[in-house]
Amino acid sequence: MQPATAQSLVLKRRKPPAPWRDEVEFVLISEVQIARRVRQLTTALERDYAGRELVIVALLSGTVMFLADLIRHLSLPLRLDFIGVSSYRAGTQAGELIFTKELRLDVQGRDVLVVDDILDTGRTLKRVTAKLQALRPRTLRACVLLDKTARRIEPVQADYVGFKIPDLFVVGYGLDFAERYRNLPFIGVLKPELYQSKTSAGQPWR
Ligand code: IMP
Ligand code: MG
Repeated sequence: MQPATAQSLVLKRRKPPAPWRDEVEFVLISEVQIARRVRQLTTALERDYAGRELVIVALLSGTVMFLADLIRHLSLPLRLDFIGVSSYRAGTQAGELIFTKELRLDVQGRDVLVVDDILDTGRTLKRVTAKLQALRPRTLRACVLLDKTARRIEPVQADYVGFKIPDLFVVGYGLDFAERYRNLPFIGVLKPELYQSKTSAGQPWR
């Protein structure tokens, strides 16, 4: 199996679509760019897992859109399960990890692919892969839509990466800020005053 290489992003800060212009500062990755890259990841997965049956383990909730688009085009037999993991975060600051939903499928001896929205410090993926590795899968790999390499604390890597992005807090296409903005069809950056106002109360926003 050959991992796909990450696509470096040609950084163009595009103007957001009209309905989001009050809140979104700029679009970092457009709908078209996302769709094209997701298809490339699908092709790489089909090539690497040809003749195998995958168990896809997606992390809740940030993977909703990415997962749907990825598997809708994936012509491989697969089973799907979810792990709920939430980092009790205050605004954009990551905190302690809590599991909100456990795996239900048996993954022993299986080809397991963990899917997450974004690889940031690496804490989440490290915890989740350790947990899955203990269940003795045949292979265990990770696929993430976004990779913020500059923020890495744990030495973890994903085998399939959609886009490497700079150190910016992004929302949309499943990614949230305080549980909002997951429904944006693009990946964008909010206006700075929005991030500030939600964290100033000192309350953990989930
Ligand atoms: P890590 O454990 O620091 O690698 O963080 C992974 C999780 O943090 C992701 O699954 C996201 O839920 C969240 N996260 C990290 N960076 C961002 C961001 O820029 N926007 C939205 N969520 C983020
Ligand atoms: Mg998340």
